[in-house]
Amino acid sequence: MNLQEYLSGERRHVVQPMIVLIGFMGAGKSSVGRELARIMGTTFADLDEEIVRTAGRPIAEIFQYDGETEFRRIEREQLRAVLEETDPTPGVLALGGGAFVQLGNEEMLRDAGATIVFLDASVDELQKRCQQPGVARPLAANEQKFRELYQERRDAYARAHYTVNTQGRTVEQVAHQVMLLAVPSRHRTQ
Ligand code: S3P
Repeated sequence: MNLQEYLSGERRHVVQPMIVLIGFMGAGKSSVGRELARIMGTTFADLDEEIVRTAGRPIAEIFQYDGETEFRRIEREQLRAVLEETDPTPGVLALGGGAFVQLGNEEMLRDAGATIVFLDASVDELQKRCQQPGVARPLAANEQKFRELYQERRDAYARAHYTVNTQGRTVEQVAHQVMLLAVPSRHRTQ
């Protein structure tokens, strides 16, 4: 059995806890998460994608027709399902920007023994990235509110085990740094 088979097996979390990427919209959680899982030879899940798959509709539509409170309820339930019902649990999990700051979610992640990594950048940079075509983000529509929300959440994000600055760095560079910080050297495949 090689290391990757060992890490993807049942005993994976005995040796390497799940890495959870948090941070504001535009931080690169999904792209970095995918690359990180690739270089670690482990599995990746994106909480927003899980929500879309389970709900059968895009996040913007859930916000529009059911409201943010309902979205947060679904998000919490999906996080619980990923942590408690997925087997094996993903090696890397990217959260949506608001998930970590909702009551109870941080506790759920800590109870699960996750290694929490905060990806950050300046608010100007985050805003610029969110203006690129791609996923519709209901909470990025208003520039002023975007900035206020970032300030409101920043202290909570900073409670992560590690903070990584993504400003001016490629997805590959950030993923590599996260691996160096969060994965003990004896468990690295690179
Ligand atoms: C949100 C961020 C989004 C998505 C939803 C709400 C937030 O995810 O979960 O639109 O509250 O910051 P990304 O951070 O991946 O854009």
